[in-house]
Amino acid sequence: MKIKTAEFVISNSKVDHCPNSTLPEYAFIGRSNVGKSSLINMLTGRKSLAKTSAKPGKTQLINHFLINNNWHLVDLPGYGYAQVSKSTKKVFQKFITAYFKKREQMICAFVLIDSRHKPQPIDMEFMQWLGEHNIPFCIIFTKADKLKPKILDKNIENYKNEMLESWVEMPEYFITSATSKLGQDDILDYIEGINNS
Ligand code: GTP
Ligand code: MG
Repeated sequence: MKIKTAEFVISNSKVDHCPNSTLPEYAFIGRSNVGKSSLINMLTGRKSLAKTSAKPGKTQLINHFLINNNWHLVDLPGYGYAQVSKSTKKVFQKFITAYFKKREQMICAFVLIDSRHKPQPIDMEFMQWLGEHNIPFCIIFTKADKLKPKILDKNIENYKNEMLESWVEMPEYFITSATSKLGQDDILDYIEGINNS
């Protein structure tokens, strides 16, 4: 898919205030600082459509972007920062879970995972939560440019093995780099395939 237009629509913390539209919607979610906003800029080819920061917790609201006038891309705040306790019972910001539960036009959530790190309980629990609520999702391994290819392969293999301990199959996944644009075509083509189906 070619991105012809990418426009910011609205930011808010209330699901009920999200655009009143039936356009298909794709959400980007993951731990703070994993690279959600950078990925959105890379995918759309717009340098500063979504605000990025080296400091975790930059994105605080649900941000809607209208792409090619026919689908919405959504940048969400990170989970797993500040308000999350160390106990196994992780707390996800209420409005994030409300967004996924209520937003029926949300077609697929892209769960971003930093390719440098070992599987983290909070990500596993979040994907578990999505599964329990029948919310379709894919995984995106980010920041691939920060690793040597061999280590990257090893980390992903390790992640797959851990996923397969609780999932029947590995969800669809992509490997990306916001700096080299790795994964851009694959993700855009995946979205286009769903939009056209
Ligand atoms: P919050 O909004 O705070 O939850 O963070 P976020 O997930 O939106 O992350 P953001 O895109 O703001 O990126 C966090 C930091 O990681 C920034 O310093 C980015 O420049 C850097 N970063 C993001 N993606 C990549 C990548 O693919 N490669 C490299 N090298 N750095 C990246
Ligand atoms: Mg962000």
